[in-house]
Amino acid sequence: SKKAFIFDLDGVIVDTAKYHFLAWQKLAQELGIEFTPEHNEELKGVSRVRSLDIILELGNVTASQEDKNKWLFQKNEDYLSYLVDIDESEILPGVLPVLHYLKDKNQLIALGSASKNARPILEKTGILPLFDAIVDGNDVSNAKPDPEVFLRAAQLLNAKNEDAIVFEDSVAGVQAANIANMTSVGIGDDKILHEAKYNFKDFTFIDVSFIEALIN
Ligand code: G6P
Ligand code: MG
Repeated sequence: SKKAFIFDLDGVIVDTAKYHFLAWQKLAQELGIEFTPEHNEELKGVSRVRSLDIILELGNVTASQEDKNKWLFQKNEDYLSYLVDIDESEILPGVLPVLHYLKDKNQLIALGSASKNARPILEKTGILPLFDAIVDGNDVSNAKPDPEVFLRAAQLLNAKNEDAIVFEDSVAGVQAANIANMTSVGIGDDKILHEAKYNFKDFTFIDVSFIEALIN
């Protein structure tokens, strides 16, 4: 039957989570705040604004809205500088075969990302036409773990929540999928993503029989 496959973007489809990390780390350093890869797990899947607040909380820093806006702009400029000449090579291993398999089987495909940079990334990597619906950081007001982004994606696809499968590399995203009553598939460390219904280290570990079982 027809299912709705909803993909997170950063760290699931494209290898951009590392660029978000580098850009946040640079800002944290400038603010004298210690920011480690472990801290970064908390930022994955979370909106830009909320991410800055988490970093400032880490350093016990309070700031004016003006300063915050300046830092948010600066972080995004740094992040975008990494994306200037990205192409399809930024797509993570194993992702394209799964996307094409789903298309082949007439399944619905959506993006459910917190990023406001999602569309240009899909365009640059050449996979925009594969998506039946796109919901990104420009469309939603509540950050994951709030399920808004996935609920809207399912709605746009005309699919029931129970018929939706969500691929996520973040704790907040897995929680959002679970709250929405969708099937959560964690992509990454299964210790970090232990709340996911299924877990794979990356897409190369997902085989046809797994997808087939979800469709049937
Ligand atoms: C995703 C990423 C986060 C990022 C957020 C906002 O959820 O996992 O690391 O901060 O999107 O992205 P943006 O591109 O709008 O700053
Ligand atoms: Mg992600």
